[in-house]
Amino acid sequence: MAQFGTVFCDHIAIAHYKNGAWQEAAIEPLAPLPMHPAAHVLHYASTCFEGFKAYRWEDGKARIFRLHDHVARMQKSAASLCLPVPDAGMLANMVLDIVAKNIDDIPAPPSSLYLRPTLIGTLPNIGAAAAPSTEATLFILTSPVGDYFEGGARPLKLLVDDERARSTEQLGSTKTGGNYAGALGPTLAAKAEYGVDQVLFCPNGDVQETGAANFLLISDDEVITKALDTSFLHGLTRASILTLAGDYGYKVTERDFTVDELLAAIPTHEAALSGTAACLAPVGCLVYKGEERSVMDGQPGLNTAKLRKALQDIHYGDAPDTHSWLTEVPLSVPETS
Ligand SMILES: Cc1ncc(COP(=O)(O)O)c(C=O)c1O
Repeated sequence: MAQFGTVFCDHIAIAHYKNGAWQEAAIEPLAPLPMHPAAHVLHYASTCFEGFKAYRWEDGKARIFRLHDHVARMQKSAASLCLPVPDAGMLANMVLDIVAKNIDDIPAPPSSLYLRPTLIGTLPNIGAAAAPSTEATLFILTSPVGDYFEGGARPLKLLVDDERARSTEQLGSTKTGGNYAGALGPTLAAKAEYGVDQVLFCPNGDVQETGAANFLLISDDEVITKALDTSFLHGLTRASILTLAGDYGYKVTERDFTVDELLAAIPTHEAALSGTAACLAPVGCLVYKGEERSVMDGQPGLNTAKLRKALQDIHYGDAPDTHSWLTEVPLSVPETS
């Protein structure tokens, strides 16, 4: 399958906000968006997005994973950026509509359809640096994606950066483009210098997250991850893994921990990254102050594999959805709603 995120279905769902209200959403052919060069987003980065997946089971029906939680996270992101907040029902219906429209393009598990709702401020006003965009466009791209673990779960190598933050305390839990632009420089530098896959941002020693995934420590009986605050993205994979870990009898500990504690833990704890794209990916090596530290024996851990499988089984319909995380997509929905 083509590289993640480079192939798109040929329709999008789209809605515009103007005159103080959301206009009726529509399904349209995928095409370049007409955009005024003064659009607020192009100058003042008024944008946020979501990323989640729909799976097509053997019965031919599509299920969306944690639809309403992703809608709620997008509303939070929009509010934190002073963008018009999409109505939850409207956004959820747009997602259902576009998945139904593109249902024939959803590959069978373990592949899936990646969903990318995006909200941009379109007010043409370069004088509005300190004013919100009162016009906006919301659209949903869909992209068939393959299995991240095709060819096996290669353990990842992370640079532990105990100085820089990925984002700011104010915007860390907002899914906005600027956070990714900010993490890019440090990540590219770390890849070039140390050959790592990602940077684990730990400002002042506080272990937070990587550029696009949450970080967990896992032993035979406990899962430890940073407690929720506004400095990092509240991953729904993270939340799901913690819930499943509880079901399996692991002690679930959400607490802040330092780089020193992290380094002390890795001889006895597995480490993993969680996120929609990779589900739960094993970390085999940390690089800290130029020195490589192996996580356990450096190989993918059994607890990580067990928890990943538990979540994937739900995605693929191989285990019951005991937490009601999946939304079945009605087969025929009106083109607009
Ligand atoms: C910065 C960041 N952290 C964590 C995550 C994981 O979030 P989720 O599990 O909801 O995909 C993502 C991916 O969206 C991300 O971009």
